Amino acid sequence: MNKFPKDFLWGGATAANQYEGGYNEGGKALTISDVTTAGSHTKPREITWIIPETGETGTTKFAFGGKMEFPKGAVPCVLDGYYYPSHQATDFYHHYKEDIALLAEMGFKTFRMSIAWPRIYPDLESDTPSEEGLKFYEDVFKELNKYGIEPLVTLAHFEIPMELVTKYDGWANRKVVDLFVKFSTTVFKRYKGLVKYWLTFNEINMMEFMTPMTVGVLDATPQKKADAALHQFLASALTVKAAHEIDENNKVGMMLAYQPLYGETCDPEDQLLALHVGQRQFYWYADVQMTGKYPAYKLKDYERNNVTLNLQDGDKELLESYPCDFLSFSCYGSGVQGTHENGGVAGGNGLMGRKNPYLDANAWGWATDPHCLRIACNQLYDRYHKPLFIVENGIGWADEITEDKQVHDDYRINYLRLNIKSMCDAINIDGIPLLGYTMWGCIDLVSAGTGEMKKRYGFVYVDMDDEGNGTLNRYKKDSFYWYKKCIESDGENLD
Ligand code: BG6
Repeated sequence: MNKFPKDFLWGGATAANQYEGGYNEGGKALTISDVTTAGSHTKPREITWIIPETGETGTTKFAFGGKMEFPKGAVPCVLDGYYYPSHQATDFYHHYKEDIALLAEMGFKTFRMSIAWPRIYPDLESDTPSEEGLKFYEDVFKELNKYGIEPLVTLAHFEIPMELVTKYDGWANRKVVDLFVKFSTTVFKRYKGLVKYWLTFNEINMMEFMTPMTVGVLDATPQKKADAALHQFLASALTVKAAHEIDENNKVGMMLAYQPLYGETCDPEDQLLALHVGQRQFYWYADVQMTGKYPAYKLKDYERNNVTLNLQDGDKELLESYPCDFLSFSCYGSGVQGTHENGGVAGGNGLMGRKNPYLDANAWGWATDPHCLRIACNQLYDRYHKPLFIVENGIGWADEITEDKQVHDDYRINYLRLNIKSMCDAINIDGIPLLGYTMWGCIDLVSAGTGEMKKRYGFVYVDMDDEGNGTLNRYKKDSFYWYKKCIESDGENLD
């Protein structure tokens, strides 16, 4: 059987900070993305800052897997003379009707997008949300509903409000839990009947890296990371509770950045390393959000590193009572871990490992693994026994547009064909309950890792360059027609 179930949720995914734009319109306050410059494959992005006491300004490099060094007293801010890709992004804010019509034409059943928290609460402490912000997303959800497209809404996708950074030290502060739950409760109430699939924190485990971007903490120490994680877990549990109380139809998923990990050789040292990295980079986050319990290896790590798990009365019960309803994850490829001399470092969304000599990679070093999604689904379902949702998968490419506005992206079609086939096997051969699939960046948007425009993922080309110049006109790529056929045939026609 080479088909997907009739109710499979085919779609695509985006995030406000990379797609929405309108960064200072509709009363929205700044996020950390709004102070992050563009970079490239070889040049890291930077966060711009000021030290208010001295007036000194400067930049700090984005560090995947490393510590970002900010001078004492530095506060991120927008500075003249820099280009910030999130400000316009690819302007969903003004193009949402046109974009949703394109998604509908492809036959989308679902569309993943995120809500920018400071669009709803420009003042995080206020008791009154912004009507203009609420109305914008309501209009978007109604437009989606008009075409029968189910919104899949991420509550936090790297849209850390600036106020969180400057006033609270980000998620390291426990007070942020209440602020977030106020926000999630507000949107659950307002969008009752319009949205039923929700995700809490995008790639929650990416807080291992890039802590300013993911949890708003500038000077991350192991203790602060542990606190930030605990606070997001508590906020997740309270969010699940609120979602179910407000509407019994609501389903809340966690969101994990995942990749199956291979030991580079059958040397047990390589296998042990792969196990160790998998536990530390992915599993413990999912263990807490899906089972409500901290795993023993994580508690041992904390003990060894003198990190305190700052649980208060009632926290354990809360975590255990409100696990997430389903597990959603991003998965672009697999990873390799080894202890021997190796053939180089691979690319990937922060989850770098070693190069896999059996796989081909794109210009950014991200490799295509034909069995990746099937292996990922099996590993995650065997462990958590809850429905899965693949909410990011895709391939960035420097697409060329021809004079007659065509994009011949057979490399993307090839990548998707292999990945969709792999998912199909997971469902039909292995019996995995997979709710749906949202291809990352279905309409071209700005890269999170590099801030570039030229690293394009979409079925739809957006006319904009790396400096934000262009008409923002939309053009259908070859993959647009291919995905439409795929959806129409319930995933059977992948030619
Ligand atoms: C994921 C993020 O890590 O990878 C997305 O959730 C991101 O926000 C995606 O865009 C692809 O990464 P990049 O760096 O190519 O944009």
